[in-house]
Amino acid sequence: SKGLQIAIDGPASAGKSTVAKLVAKKLHYVYCDTGAMYRAVTWQAMQLGLDLTDEPQILNVVETYPIRFVAADPVQQVFIGEHDITTAIRQPNVTNNVSTVAALGTVRAALVKQQRAIAAQGGIVMDGRDIGTTVLPHAQVKIFLVASVAERARRRYAENLTKGIDTPLATLEHEIEVRDHKDSTRRVSPLTQAKDATRLDTTPLSIDEVVAKIYETAKKKE
Ligand code: C5P
Repeated sequence: SKGLQIAIDGPASAGKSTVAKLVAKKLHYVYCDTGAMYRAVTWQAMQLGLDLTDEPQILNVVETYPIRFVAADPVQQVFIGEHDITTAIRQPNVTNNVSTVAALGTVRAALVKQQRAIAAQGGIVMDGRDIGTTVLPHAQVKIFLVASVAERARRRYAENLTKGIDTPLATLEHEIEVRDHKDSTRRVSPLTQAKDATRLDTTPLSIDEVVAKIYETAKKKE
């Protein structure tokens, strides 16, 4: 068969990309991290010193600098133009500005088009905020991953330590809440659970347990 579309959405730091990557690997599907695309555009716009609310200028960035994913182990690399921005887009300055860029309707439309083109290649696991609602509304598997703010901040804190980022836990909790609020209240494609999505609270679950649940759901439909 051509393979399924698996949409994984949810708030910041709920474990979406970690889980999505592993599910894709198990199913031999393509993995697409749509958050990395919004982060890439944000990084490039900041690099150019642009006003992040200037919609025509930011759209111009999307049209001028191609975003590419390159398969690599353990992490897939992300490029914009000629720049490898795999680590740069995880830095706090990008994280805390990306929601501003992600609120721009024409920028979203351009990236959604690219995301659908990637999905058209076959079996796909795509993670983000609007995959089940907007990007892939016909996805056969839709998961909405949630976890408490405290748990998400703890996970992000641990992940940050491995990258040499030492933002305090309380600051991370605040940043996660601010970003969720911005993403949930924007006018275009806000973060919201699709009506036909399965809500999965990962607070008490290990990564392997979450992966197994999604994998089993997919296997039944494949
Ligand atoms: O998933 P990640 O934390 O990398 O996403 C970064 C930001 O990109 C989100 O906070 C959100 O503003 C934006 N985003 C989005 N729609 C998506 C994926 C990410 O608006 N499908």
